[in-house]
Amino acid sequence: TTGYITLDQGYGNTGSCESAITYIDGDAGILRYRGIPIEQFANRPNFIEVCWLLIFGNLPTAAEYGDFSERLTRHAMLNESMKHHFQGFPTQAPPMAILSAMINALSCFHPDMNGADSDDQFIAAAARLISKIRTIAAFAHRSSIGRTYNYPNPKLLYVENFMHMMFSEPHAPHETDEIVRLAFNLVLILHADHEQNCSTSTVRMVGSSGANLFASCAAGVCALWGPLHGGANVAVLDMLEQIHQGDLSVEEYMRLAKDKNSGVRLMGFGHRVYKNFDPRAKMLQEVAEKLLKHLNINDPLLEIGRRLEEIALNDSYFVERKLYPNVDFYSGIILRALGIPTNMFTVIFAMGRMPGWIAHWREQNLQGARIGRPRQIYTGPTEHDYVPRDQRG
Ligand code: SDX
Repeated sequence: TTGYITLDQGYGNTGSCESAITYIDGDAGILRYRGIPIEQFANRPNFIEVCWLLIFGNLPTAAEYGDFSERLTRHAMLNESMKHHFQGFPTQAPPMAILSAMINALSCFHPDMNGADSDDQFIAAAARLISKIRTIAAFAHRSSIGRTYNYPNPKLLYVENFMHMMFSEPHAPHETDEIVRLAFNLVLILHADHEQNCSTSTVRMVGSSGANLFASCAAGVCALWGPLHGGANVAVLDMLEQIHQGDLSVEEYMRLAKDKNSGVRLMGFGHRVYKNFDPRAKMLQEVAEKLLKHLNINDPLLEIGRRLEEIALNDSYFVERKLYPNVDFYSGIILRALGIPTNMFTVIFAMGRMPGWIAHWREQNLQGARIGRPRQIYTGPTEHDYVPRDQRG
């Protein structure tokens, strides 16, 4: 197989599935959501529109957009008794662990959503997940810093409401300016789907057993957490900080990244599918440049990132292996500029990827797909007899 999880969905063991959601041409560096090139979302980016597009296949009409937005507002709150769970976690609990646990817990508070059989039930479940992931993320952060929870404000738009829940203080409500709001929308859009990546394949695999949408997406959070996947945005910042602190020079780091025995990789570089530039990385680099200029931030890590990219793109080791910056290379610099704590970076990736997970879970259900059941090449011992313990020496 090509290294992907082989989902046997009635195509025998060909090891792949059919999907109409996202198209990637890894050699040409092309990424399209339901046929629309991602570059076109840069003008007035609207994450909620893209959520609807990915899940239902078309850009929403004004009525669909209005109804979905109203549902997101209505479903932003958590059941009050869910708040006790946050106190149950140690202060330094990884937010991805809390996120996965709390998304799974949603199925306890909304059992009617577990089937999500009717369109309206499914839309409600999708709206609950896309809306509540923000509240869960923000409450996890507030709990970890010992601050009061900021309840969602129904007057605020999606990103503004998240930033309010994260950063407002009783004496100082958080204000999100238009440039920041648009930049954050675009960051979420660029993370929204990426066909059969590790976490989305996990959501499909879990969903293929008939597991409910909340349980399937909770599993996706766990898969995304890994440093080779969504956790790479944190690993990139750690790498850039390590160089900035002077522990290693850029040149020393590059040398280690090319040494197989070092266990060091150039985080935020390389991709299983893109053997050309990851189009998202290009767009995120532009967002980073514009946002830092707008916020008047001179982040030395951005300069180190540019330097690493410049060296790598002229180094035969990376060029021969077609290793280019991926979605995680610049995203951390943007999130840092937005004031997002490093331990929340992958949570933001999960917020962005939620509509993609939901879309794939629904598509697979509509396809009537069979349970995922990968096969293997057996490399164990040939048949032999059991040896009783007193004869084993
Ligand atoms: C995401 O699948 C998706 O679409 C994922 C994603 C999404 O939107 O869902 O795009 C999000 O996960 C992006 C990737 C984030 N991860 C990282 O940035 C971690 C660093 N990158 C690598 O670990 C690696 O490039 C992967 C995990 C991204 C891809 O792994 P592959 O396809 O299994 O590649 P590989 O490990 O087989 O590497 C091929 C060669 C090897 O050298 P050789 O054995 O051929 O000599 O390239 C080398 C690797 O050692 N290599 C690297 C490298 N990535 C690959 N060497 C140094 N630094 C790197 N980053």
